[in-house]
Amino acid sequence: MEAVDFESPDRRARFEKGLTTALPQPAWMRVWAVESPDSRFVAHLDLTGSSIPSEKHRASLGIGVEESFYRRGLGRRLMQGAIEFATRNEIEWIDLSVFTDNHAAIGLYQSLGFEEVGRRNDRFRISGRSVDDLTMTLRIKS
Ligand SMILES: CC(C)(COP(=O)(O)OP(=O)(O)OC[C@H]1O[C@@H](n2cnc3c(N)ncnc32)[C@H](O)[C@@H]1OP(=O)(O)O)[C@@H](O)C(=O)NCCC(=O)NCCS
Repeated sequence: MEAVDFESPDRRARFEKGLTTALPQPAWMRVWAVESPDSRFVAHLDLTGSSIPSEKHRASLGIGVEESFYRRGLGRRLMQGAIEFATRNEIEWIDLSVFTDNHAAIGLYQSLGFEEVGRRNDRFRISGRSVDDLTMTLRIKS
C-alpha cells in the first residue's frame, strides 16, 4: 500500500476548506479532538459530508485513539458527540468502513446502534496481506 502524504498542500487545502464549509454544503468537514494533560492530541474524530449534493443527508465518520489511551471511554465520548452533532444538523445517516478484524471498533460501533450493511472482500492488500472491510451505518432519523 502506498503511503499517504498527510502533509501535502492539496490535502491540507481540502482539509481547511472542509472545516470552513457550512453545513449542509457539499464536502463540509468537522473534527473533534481530545487533548492529554501534557497538551498532545490523543484522540480524534472526523465527520465529512459528501461532495455529491444529492447525498447531503449523510456523513462519513473516521476515528482514532492513541494506544496508551485505549479503553478509557474516549472513543465512546467522541462518537456520542458526533451523533449529537449530526442529529442537531439534520444528518440522517452516518456511514463508516472498518476492517473485519477490528473487533474493538466494531464493538464500539455496534454498541451505538451501527449496523453492518456491506462487506468488501479483499478490499486492501497491506504488506502482502488481504484485508476485508465492512461498511456500517447508523440511521439517525427514521
Ligand atoms: C476503536 C477505538 C477508537 C476505541 O477507542 P477507545 O477509546 O478505546 O474506546 P472506549 O474506551 O470508548 O470503548 C468503547 C467500546 O468499544 C469497545 N471496545 C473498545 N476496545 C475494545 C477491545 N479491545 N475489545 C473489544 N471491544 C472493545 C467496547 O464495546 C467498549 O465499550 P465498554 O468499554 O463499555 O466495553 C480505538 O481502539 C482505536 O482508535 N483503534 C485504532 C484506530 C481504529 O481502529 N479506528 C477505527 C477505524 S474504523
